[in-house]
Formats: sequence, C-alpha cells, structure tokens
Amino acid sequence: MLILIVVFAALIILILALTFSKSTSKVTSSNTKPVANLGEDELLSCFVSSQSQQTRLGDVSVTWEKKDLGLVYQYSNGAPALAGQASQFTGRAQVFPVAVATGNASLLLRNVRGGDEGEYTCSVSSSAARGSIIIQLRTAAFSAPTFKFSNGTLTGEASRWFPKPSVTWLNQTGDILSANTSFTENSEGIVGVVSVFESAQVSETYSCRIQNSLVLAETETRVTGTDVSASTYFIFSSAAIPVGSNYVNVLISFLSVCYGF
Ligand SMILES: *[C@@H]1O[C@H](CO)[C@@H](O)[C@H](O)[C@H]1NC(C)=O
Ligand SMILES: *[C@@H]1O[C@H](CO)[C@@H](O)[C@H](O)[C@H]1NC(C)=O
Ligand SMILES: *[C@@H]1O[C@H](CO)[C@@H](O)[C@H](O)[C@H]1NC(C)=O
Ligand SMILES: *[C@@H]1O[C@H](CO)[C@@H](O)[C@H](O)[C@H]1NC(C)=O
Repeated sequence: MLILIVVFAALIILILALTFSKSTSKVTSSNTKPVANLGEDELLSCFVSSQSQQTRLGDVSVTWEKKDLGLVYQYSNGAPALAGQASQFTGRAQVFPVAVATGNASLLLRNVRGGDEGEYTCSVSSSAARGSIIIQLRTAAFSAPTFKFSNGTLTGEASRWFPKPSVTWLNQTGDILSANTSFTENSEGIVGVVSVFESAQVSETYSCRIQNSLVLAETETRVTGTDVSASTYFIFSSAAIPVGSNYVNVLISFLSVCYGF
C-alpha cells in the first residue's frame, strides 16, 4: 500500500512537472492587430515567450502563412525555405535568423500594399517549443500634420491619409472649433488634407484631430509668435478588420481607446 502511494505521488509530480515545463513556453505577439502604413515596412511580431531564460530551443523553424494566399515565408534547418511562397511576397518578406535562434519569429514585410491586409498565422516549432498565433494585419495611410500660422489663421496640412479621415479642432477646454477642411485625392486614392482654422490666437494651444476608422492622429499645436509648435501621437484601432458596414464596432473601440488617454 505504502509503495503504491509513493508511486502515485511520484507519478503526479512527474505529470505536474511535464505540464509546467510545457506551459512555460508559448508563442505570443506584442501586437496581434497591427495597422501598417501603406508603402512602409511593417514588423509582424511573433515570438516564443519562455519564463525560463535558460530554455534551450534547439533548431527553430518558422512558418508564416496568410489565410487567402498560403505561404508567406518559411525558415527551417537554419535557412529560408521558400518553395511555394505566394508570389505577392517574393522579395518582400523576411525573418531575422539571429533572432529566430532565440525564439523570435517576427516577420518584416516591406513596402506594404492594400492586398497585404488579412489574417496571418505564425507557427514556431523546435524541440522545446511549439505553437502558433494569428495576426490580423490592417492597412491604412497616415501622416502627422504640419502647421503654419499667419494673421490669425492656423493651417494644418497632412499629405497621406487613407481611408479619407475627418478633421476636428478643439480648444483647451475640449470645445469643438469650426474650421474649413479640404481634401485632395491622388491617383492611388491616398488623400491629402488641408484644414484651416481662422480664429487662432497667439499663445493659445489647440488640438487638431485627424481620424478614420483605423487611425487617430492627435496633434497639440501652440502658436508662438509666427511659429507653431506641434506634437502628434497616433492611436490605432484595436477592432478586428471591419467587415461591410461594421463601422460601429470600430468607432466604439476608438472611443474606449480615447478614454484611456
Ligand atoms: C524580434 O526581432 C526583431 C528584429 O530583430 C526586433 O525588432 C524585435 O524587437 C524582436 N522582438 C522581441 C520580442 O525580441
Ligand atoms: C489679416 O486679417 C484681417 C482680418 O481678417 C484682414 O483685415 C487683413 O487684411 C489681414 N492681413 C493680411 C496681411 O492678410
Ligand atoms: C473654448 O471654446 C469655448 C466655446 O467657444 C469657450 O467657451 C471656452 O472658453 C474656450 N476655452 C478656452 C480655453 O479658450
Ligand atoms: C470657411 O471658408 C469660407 C470661404 O473661404 C469662409 O467664408 C468661412 O469664414 C470659413 N469658415 C471658417 C470656420 O473658417
């Protein structure tokens, strides 16, 4: 009887140890819903997070796939394995071999296009860790506005936005100020924005908010004599890819992000 108890106890400890050691490594991402800026490079984050730094991963292989297109990039046995790579990604995708060896399977996607939007799966496997994670990539165009001040008129200009944004000016107490905004669209559908606020005062601070369904750019501007100082931060929607007219969800998630600030 005593032997039986000892054996059972040992078995339970073994099972617990195995379960624990498995759960110390998993595949994760620092951003599962990134918004890439069209024409720029985007790093899709994917890595093995292990609680113990000493975990030896051994040979790590990485596979990135896109839901509708198939293979984006593969790295195994210490080299790229690109047979079957979807042509859209030829010469535009890579992982970092030195990083892969430490369990970092992040994918660099160069010169992002609208067609890159969608669902990616990053799968990592090694003798010590195995798992995958889904990354939802959205694409947009966004750029910080620049400002000019002349004779009471504050003019903000932003060269690259998509989808077409709306522009709101606010004063320090958060009241909306009336302004005139005009848009120009280039041959690629990228929108340029010019917004004119006519009753600006020297030494006052104003907020200029440019936003679409994916990105919000908030700029604090301060008129100092003839100069204007401006600092912009971007907030990205965390909502899933909008399907059809599902913009309400995107808006709600935007509001919650804004309130967080
Ligand atoms: C993974 O590697 C990329 C490229 O070197 C790097 O930019 C990123 O910060 C790394 N991520 C982590 C979690 O180490
Ligand atoms: C400045 O604005 C005032 C009032 O809007 C106008 O009367 C004046 O002509 C303007 N001056 C210049 C140099 O544009
Ligand atoms: C902001 O605008 C509102 C409405 O015009 C005004 O009542 C308020 O005093 C303004 N706040 C500041 C800080 O100028
Ligand atoms: C908008 O532009 C029109 C025409 O230039 C002008 O009459 C109006 O005062 C402007 N409104 C604001 C709020 O700047």
